[in-house]
Amino acid sequence: LIGFFGNEMNSPVYVVGGFVRDLILNIENYDIDIVVEGNGIEFAKYMAQQLNAIVVPYEKFFTANVIFKDGFKIDVATARTEYYESPGELPQVDISTIKKDLYRRDFTINAMAIKLNPQDFGTLYDFFNCQKDLEEGVIRVLHNLSFVEDPTRMIRAVRFEQRYGFKMENYTLDLLKKNLSERYLERVSGSRIRQEIEKILEEKNPIKAIKRMAELDMIKHIFPKTYYTATMEEKFVRLFKFIPYLKERFENFNDFYAVSTIFLEYYDKSTLEEMRAKYGYPKKFIETLKFTENIIIPVKSLIENRYPFSDIYKVCGKSNPYIYSHISAYLDEDEQNYLLSYIDTVLNTRIEKVTGKYLMERYQLKAGPILNNILEELFCLKLDNSN
Ligand code: CTP
Repeated sequence: LIGFFGNEMNSPVYVVGGFVRDLILNIENYDIDIVVEGNGIEFAKYMAQQLNAIVVPYEKFFTANVIFKDGFKIDVATARTEYYESPGELPQVDISTIKKDLYRRDFTINAMAIKLNPQDFGTLYDFFNCQKDLEEGVIRVLHNLSFVEDPTRMIRAVRFEQRYGFKMENYTLDLLKKNLSERYLERVSGSRIRQEIEKILEEKNPIKAIKRMAELDMIKHIFPKTYYTATMEEKFVRLFKFIPYLKERFENFNDFYAVSTIFLEYYDKSTLEEMRAKYGYPKKFIETLKFTENIIIPVKSLIENRYPFSDIYKVCGKSNPYIYSHISAYLDEDEQNYLLSYIDTVLNTRIEKVTGKYLMERYQLKAGPILNNILEELFCLKLDNSN
């Protein structure tokens, strides 16, 4: 259909990038990126009108999203070349042809297009030997300014390597190392880095990518005071085992925060503030991190010795999920199970609301610390009894 609209608009239309890559690899992918040689926004408007969808145009970039009633989304772009006024910034855009559009992309595996216009439907456009790289499992940049133009591609390279079990080709690897040591990653905004890390954390096996980033000495360009060690890796292995349980129990659990608690361990106050400004952690998160660092050893020992839940509760207080995730990184499997049953008990234990009111009336207590202490004691009693 898209191809027919292309003909009606007199424009060559292609599906490009990740969709083509995964089609050739025979992997499901519903992220459809369309490139139009012509006017992408006009094309998107026409397509939306024909299919009863909504268009959200981004005039500055000659792109648009077409959003269907069921939420399905197609990205439409105008074939373009981009040039970067300074590294790490958003590109300036010029209208162009499909070949140039593909050349500006990150890696060969993502730089193929399939034409959709009916007369050429299904024709693969592979100008740079991309299919060969895809078959051989090679991650290769298209030109030597690729990482300079967009330093987040260094993180993407690791993600694709680990996702598909591919390898960076030597020249690309050298470029990456060079651009990394020239501190290009430091020029990128924290939010863009965070987005890329979040994508890594959505992958099936994020620990592999973290390991690879460490191997490439990339971590210190993201978290400057972090020394990646075998102990830290062990913590990540344990943490990733525990995260799914926390996700089941806490809505909006954020994996980036969870891994940050490990990366940011033992940071001094001022570096933590810098990290907060860069990656946008809430103030409360940093406070939690500092709090947890102080209680982790005692809590671990309570758990190791299977102390009653009330004892753990007295140290942890009203916990949030990042305290739990942080602690989990220090526990073996049995200890994690104990922590989990503690969490479930805390989540399911309530002292009835009337209790506070009842106590106030029965003993003429006023709301305040004494009443709170009594209520907390009651809560602890309940915790241990429901165990
Ligand atoms: N792209 C790029 N440089 C970037 C990000 C994206 O050149 N820094 C190009 C690539 O051609 C990529 C396409 O834009 O294929 C779409 O990007 P994105 O949706 O982020 O990635 P996908 O390749 O679709 O990968 P994923 O499967 O992870 O969504």
